Amino acid sequence: MSDLLIRDLAQVATPAGSGGPLRGAALRDVHVIESAYIVCRNGRVESVGRMIELPADLPAGIEEIDGRGLCAIPGLVDCHTHACFGGDRVNEFSLRAGGASYEELHAAGGGILSTVRATRAADEAELTRITMKHREWMRAHGTTTFEGKSGYGLDHDTELAQLRAVRAAGGVPTWLGAHTVPPEFDGADAYVDFLLAEVLPEAAAIAEAADVFLERGSFDAAQSRRYLEACSGAGLALRLHGDQFTESGAIELAIELGARSVDHLEVTGSAGVAQLAASDVTGVLLPASAMFLSRPMPPARALADAGGLIALATDFNPGSAFCDSLPLVLSLACTQLHLAPEEALVAATVNAAHVLASADTIGRLSPGFAGDIVLLEAPDWRHVAYHLAGDVVHTVIESGAVAFRRTAYST
Ligand code: NIG
Ligand code: FE
Repeated sequence: MSDLLIRDLAQVATPAGSGGPLRGAALRDVHVIESAYIVCRNGRVESVGRMIELPADLPAGIEEIDGRGLCAIPGLVDCHTHACFGGDRVNEFSLRAGGASYEELHAAGGGILSTVRATRAADEAELTRITMKHREWMRAHGTTTFEGKSGYGLDHDTELAQLRAVRAAGGVPTWLGAHTVPPEFDGADAYVDFLLAEVLPEAAAIAEAADVFLERGSFDAAQSRRYLEACSGAGLALRLHGDQFTESGAIELAIELGARSVDHLEVTGSAGVAQLAASDVTGVLLPASAMFLSRPMPPARALADAGGLIALATDFNPGSAFCDSLPLVLSLACTQLHLAPEEALVAATVNAAHVLASADTIGRLSPGFAGDIVLLEAPDWRHVAYHLAGDVVHTVIESGAVAFRRTAYST
């Protein structure tokens, strides 16, 4: 909780509005202030404006950052990650490069289940250490808030250890007990029985939300409904992995149950787009995952044009998206999903915060919001998306204090 003045910034860019997500024409409402300053007091943004309006009564000795050559955007919000996992899947990555498909590897007992074996083999201290390391990776790319799912334990102890590890690493935990059926169970129904009887009571005390992989080979719509209704009854918000490989009813179920989001949507057709756009369920787009698996890109443009709520996230995980960079996701959003940089920024800040029920406290650089700020080394904030895989993040500030500073170049 610190006091900080960032002065002489080339630009400050922030989603417009004072709370809540942006959609429709407002999705591209980014407010840009040239020659700007930001003041944080007690960890929150106190004021933002043009240098010529800099308040004269700042406390003596307030810490200052020289913002010349830098642009400020809100700390990025990664609302969909699987950042707590053991091992890696580099061998599978090689096999896919040779033509194997993600679903084939999964059906053969690899894929998610190979990460389940590695995650079960790690103890909670190790899972916490790994998740903290991943948080550092994400932070170096400007992520100041991240959600992290379980789903690689699929047993009582490891699922709960994953949720606690995400909390300990500063993330927002989501219980993805229904990720896939582990080998010791004879079918998804028996596994859902176990999850609800044995794990839900404790998971609900740690997690904020529950998630399910509604997909052929994992959980069908009836099994997903049973799991989600019980989770909702235990006080958890609802999320779904849906329409990744097949349209199996995820959008209808999400709308009916009042879920916060449906994530993936790579195969969503026009009827699904229309349904989702007319609802208050956010479509979370994961273009790094679509790219990593050579899958079609989700219909983001159609969803946005129809007035839908959209957010962007990495899906960071060892199998379908070994990617911890939201700036890379913003680049993919602009080049592959045909979103404007303004829409991409809104989708990875306030709209992502809305998925985490935090749009009133994070995702904007406005008075009263958290002092979570990314300083970009660029003459224009849009370089965050324009500079493909570029080293554009210069400094990351969390609650008004510097949390990451890139090593300076020698030039
Ligand atoms: O969101 N599709 C399901 N779950 C993850 C991938 C998990 C994995 O492959 O380990 C996803 O893509
Ligand atoms: Fe995912």
